[in-house]
Amino acid sequence: MLTEDSVVKIYDRWGRFYDIVFKWIFSEGRNAGVELLNLKAGESLLEVGVGTGLSLPLYRKDARIAGIDVSSKMLEKAQDKVDKLRLKNVSLKVMDAQAMEFPDNSFDCVTACYVVSAAPDPHKVVSEICRVCKPGGRIVFINHFKSQNRVLARFESLINGVCRNFGWQTTLDLESLIAANDLTISVQERVNIFDYWRAVLCYNSSK
Ligand SMILES: C[S@@+](CC[C@H](N)C(=O)[O-])C[C@H]1O[C@@H](n2cnc3c(N)ncnc32)[C@H](O)[C@@H]1O
Repeated sequence: MLTEDSVVKIYDRWGRFYDIVFKWIFSEGRNAGVELLNLKAGESLLEVGVGTGLSLPLYRKDARIAGIDVSSKMLEKAQDKVDKLRLKNVSLKVMDAQAMEFPDNSFDCVTACYVVSAAPDPHKVVSEICRVCKPGGRIVFINHFKSQNRVLARFESLINGVCRNFGWQTTLDLESLIAANDLTISVQERVNIFDYWRAVLCYNSSK
């Protein structure tokens, strides 16, 4: 099982190698997420689980970007990118996405790139995202969600235990996350190798 402590330990360990392994293989999804967000000048965006900040250079410079992550080692790498690229519009903070410090309705849009299934309680993360996103705001998830194919879904539950040791689960059900929150799906695209991941644009329908 993923716990708060194990997630921090696993991603603190990934910190040094994360970009070498995951920069390119997940880049299609990150690019798709930025396109779906369609940020406008002056808008505020929260990137949940910003990790080493691989998406940060992709955002427009006249939007205000906040990035949070539970792993300080991942965030150190993100801060290096912010400093090197002089991204003055970006602020980073260690914070648990399951219990965020931001007030309600703080952001115009929120994105979570390969994060929801890396958290111990994905439902808490999504409900917190809906809370801090303004009503009608855009929310983008890039993630692998449980396959709709029964044979693949069975395989995914078999390998779930192994994958959790590396920091993610394979059986997250998109439909149950949407149903449990005031979210309306607007666009869904398949991304990355074998089209195995999904980029999903939702609107926050909560009042
Ligand atoms: C697979 S990495 C994705 C990093 C980055 N978004 C990317 O596109 O490569 C998952 C990230 O989510 C972070 N994470 C997991 N659970 C979290 C939580 N509860 N709150 C904040 N960040 C979390 C991890 O520390 C890690 O940096």
